Amino acid sequence: MSISTPHGGKLINRFVEAKEVDGLTKKSKALNKITLSAREISDLELISTGVFSPLEGFMGSADYTSVLQSMRLANGLPWSLPITLSVSDEEAKPLSEGKEVALQDESGLILAILHLEEIYTFDKEKEAVAVYGTNDLAHPGVAYTHSQENLLLAGKIDMLRRPAIQDFQEHRLEPADTRKIFLERDWKRIVAFQTRNPVHRAHEYIQKCALEITDGLLLHPIVGATKKGDIPADVRMRCYKVLLDGYYPKDRTILSVFPAAMRYAGPKEAIFHAICRKNYGVTHFIVGRDHAGVGNYYGTYDAQNIFKKFKDGELGIRPLFFDHSFYCKRCLGMASAKTCPHGPEDRIALSGTKVREMLSQGIKPPPEFSRREVAEILIESMTKQ
Ligand code: ADX
Repeated sequence: MSISTPHGGKLINRFVEAKEVDGLTKKSKALNKITLSAREISDLELISTGVFSPLEGFMGSADYTSVLQSMRLANGLPWSLPITLSVSDEEAKPLSEGKEVALQDESGLILAILHLEEIYTFDKEKEAVAVYGTNDLAHPGVAYTHSQENLLLAGKIDMLRRPAIQDFQEHRLEPADTRKIFLERDWKRIVAFQTRNPVHRAHEYIQKCALEITDGLLLHPIVGATKKGDIPADVRMRCYKVLLDGYYPKDRTILSVFPAAMRYAGPKEAIFHAICRKNYGVTHFIVGRDHAGVGNYYGTYDAQNIFKKFKDGELGIRPLFFDHSFYCKRCLGMASAKTCPHGPEDRIALSGTKVREMLSQGIKPPPEFSRREVAEILIESMTKQ
């Protein structure tokens, strides 16, 4: 076994050569321009660095429809979420298929050139139901879908420069970087852990269970847009660092950011998260309880069950499934119903809401739930205003 082959066979790199940047930047100034949202900029970066391999640009209607209907690109390759670029009717007016368009950020900095292949309409409700299983606007992913403009632009991109905001520089490894590190370290079985939360004891437990049977752990927190109420990425990064410093073997752990936006698509996002991590070279991917879930939209293990829709080996990355984990006062350790015979009365289980309430009042959750160092950072960040 060795590190994963990129999805579709080759790692995509849409950056133009350094010597072309000036010329193309000049040329792009004369093109029609589209200003991208934060999510679209993040997608642009993920396409160009190969995190979304085999995508080379924003999806056209054939891929888009196929992804919604069957979780596959039009060529049959598994892919579970649409990656699209929306524009208003007015923005689309001067554009024509076959021409180039400059993609810029809000400040007017041109990031990429889009080779516009197609302009197409889409049904937001249909997309919401296919991706999120609901059209309820209270779902943050559904709300995003409906907030988009009415038309989608598709085509390959040529990336001129990375987006201006590159947070967490020293922890910002792209797929080419992680692949190199895994090879240098001779890691063959690498497990990735997706998270949008601080690492509590249950997270640590499942990571360490996985680390027992692999060569290394990629702790891979998402740092793109998350919903209101989620803990900001900079606070979480401080938590991850103290935890790794104190409790993880340095030579077997890498902390790096996943600069994607959180979709809250539960099961379909679990597939998407796994495929993206495969592109980083990872061989195993942790899926626990209600992965990428929000509210009560998904069943506890829906994000595990969805992997059954693909044939063994088809995704090219192995999911590692974990049951709901907790601290058991009688076992005196972390466990799940798979390993512990005791009842709920012996478990230390706190809801996310309860923990947030405690932290915002300056109360540390018990150490069986969250390590002291992590709780202290969270309390400091939640009580400072
Ligand atoms: S997520 O939106 O990124 O999935 P979170 O950061 O809470 O949210 O979870 C990260 C990973 O840990 C996911 O795979 C999730 O299923 C898993 N997980 C979270 N809490 C538990 C728990 N108590 N027991 C088992 N798995 C868990």
